Amino acid sequence: MQSVAVIGAGQMGAGIAQVSAQAGYQVFLSDVELAVAERAKDYIGNVLGRAVSKQKMDVQEAENVLKRIQPVGEYEPMATAGLVIEAATEREDIKRKIFDEVGKVLGHQAVLASNTSSIPITRMAQASPDAERFVGVHFFNPVPVMGLIELICGLATSDETVGKVESYAAAIGKKVVHANDAPGFIVNRILLPMLNEACFALGEGVATIPDIDAAVTLGLNHPMGPLTLADFIGLDTCLHITNVLYSGTGDPKFRAAPILVKYVEAGWLGRKTGKGFYDYSGDAPVPTR
Ligand code: 3HC
Repeated sequence: MQSVAVIGAGQMGAGIAQVSAQAGYQVFLSDVELAVAERAKDYIGNVLGRAVSKQKMDVQEAENVLKRIQPVGEYEPMATAGLVIEAATEREDIKRKIFDEVGKVLGHQAVLASNTSSIPITRMAQASPDAERFVGVHFFNPVPVMGLIELICGLATSDETVGKVESYAAAIGKKVVHANDAPGFIVNRILLPMLNEACFALGEGVATIPDIDAAVTLGLNHPMGPLTLADFIGLDTCLHITNVLYSGTGDPKFRAAPILVKYVEAGWLGRKTGKGFYDYSGDAPVPTR
């Protein structure tokens, strides 16, 4: 496989494009508009620039990585890609439309993968041109830093498809874990109940926001406290995945904490809106309760 296409140039898509280019792949990066993909390339340039200034990468290498990333405004150039990774908004209707459109140009041997965090792979495979060549590849944020990919097979995903994704994961230096096509796969099945429980604890007055976060960072050695991490992921995303766990299992233990629902209703979605459990408008985050 020489080239990889990434559809969706948000934080995840940009990260996937970056690590793919660093591994030597030619990368096509697209979004709803060419300008969005071009801005994502600028962002990647800044990330690589920081690596150069920290002497973690030399200037020539950073330039070569950046040259391998080609922002595109349409899907036609992706016809040559061996792997197409969809990393668009977590909405099934949007993803299905993408699969339908990119399916028209997808190479006959190419694999189509979705970076979904919560939508069933077997169901989405129905919107792809070939369910045998459709698979889930769940990356983690920030992609250049996190060492994992969850690989999720649909009912029809072929062994050949799995092999191709495993080779790609090895090339970009990520460990693969295999998860069944079950709600939340592995990581979010475990993570979201913890974040949701932190929200229950906050709502019930067990402790303050900074104390809940300090308890988990210092008491459990997690790099971020759960409320900081929820803000980092996005509270709307946290609520969405929690609801998927709840509806997908029917188990009341997954019901969303009222305070999480409240924050989402307020539009306080975390870092991306400047306010969630913390307010990010100043030099340092300030708790909002
Ligand atoms: N892109 C590239 N590199 C980044 C980055 C980014 N967005 N953010 C941080 N980094 C790099 C920094 O450059 C630095 O690199 P260096 O060690 O080579 O200098 C390194 O990461 C550490 O960064 P910082 O020193 O700035 O900050 P921290 O030490 O506080 O680390 C963190 C930041 C890596 C984000 C760390 O806090 C962390 O690991 N947090 C937990 C993240 C996590 O749990 N992610 C999973 C979320 S769940 C998910 O994605 C699934 C979805 O479906 C919900």
